[in-house]
Amino acid sequence: MAGPSPPVVMTAATPKATNIVWHEASVDRAARAEKRGHRSAILWFTGLSGSGKSTLANAVNAALFERGLATYVLDGDNVRHGLCKDLGFSDADREENIRRIGEVAKLFLDAGVIVLTAFVSPFRADRDKARELVAQGDFIEIFCAADLDVCESRDPKGLYAKARSGAIKEFTGISSPYEAPESPELKIDTGSQELTESVQVVLKALEAQGVIPKA
Ligand code: ADX
Repeated sequence: MAGPSPPVVMTAATPKATNIVWHEASVDRAARAEKRGHRSAILWFTGLSGSGKSTLANAVNAALFERGLATYVLDGDNVRHGLCKDLGFSDADREENIRRIGEVAKLFLDAGVIVLTAFVSPFRADRDKARELVAQGDFIEIFCAADLDVCESRDPKGLYAKARSGAIKEFTGISSPYEAPESPELKIDTGSQELTESVQVVLKALEAQGVIPKA
């Protein structure tokens, strides 16, 4: 005889609603790409705090915008003021943060927009889940690989000093882990490479992958 069923653990990712049916949009992603002259993609910037994710994402965004392409930046610090303001920095909260961003990025992809996400996203499994939400080629992981000592010496927001003094708990790189990507599409040494050069590397990769037309 079968025993009692295991308890259902409800997380934010567990569907609650029933009787919902997917509605096909009359303007689809392919139509948007054709009209706009470029594909959409998710550019997923990951790296330590202070590694230059937001700086690089914003500079790439500006260059793409200059070319007349549809783009948007989702930035960790900004998104945590709204959509994710109920989340902190525990492992579970970071997982939920990245899950939401993965889903939002997927919507942008469908909307025909090149979306650039700049989140520490320290856990490999969470980044991989975001990757698995979309087709191969749509998710371009860009590892901003500045070393911890470089990020700490920059300390643009004074957060490393606070983390070292114990005033901030669970700080990535100090008291919470960062799992570097094993095979990112791009690895950029944002510790030493000039910003303009890094931007060119990303643009060339997007051209080579057929996301954007050649300049
Ligand atoms: S993530 O780990 O969930 O991906 P996210 O990118 O949204 O993090 O937010 C990181 C930003 O929040 C950092 O750039 C930093 O400015 C700030 N921050 C505040 N507390 C922490 C912390 N404990 N660990 C990392 N970043 C923190």
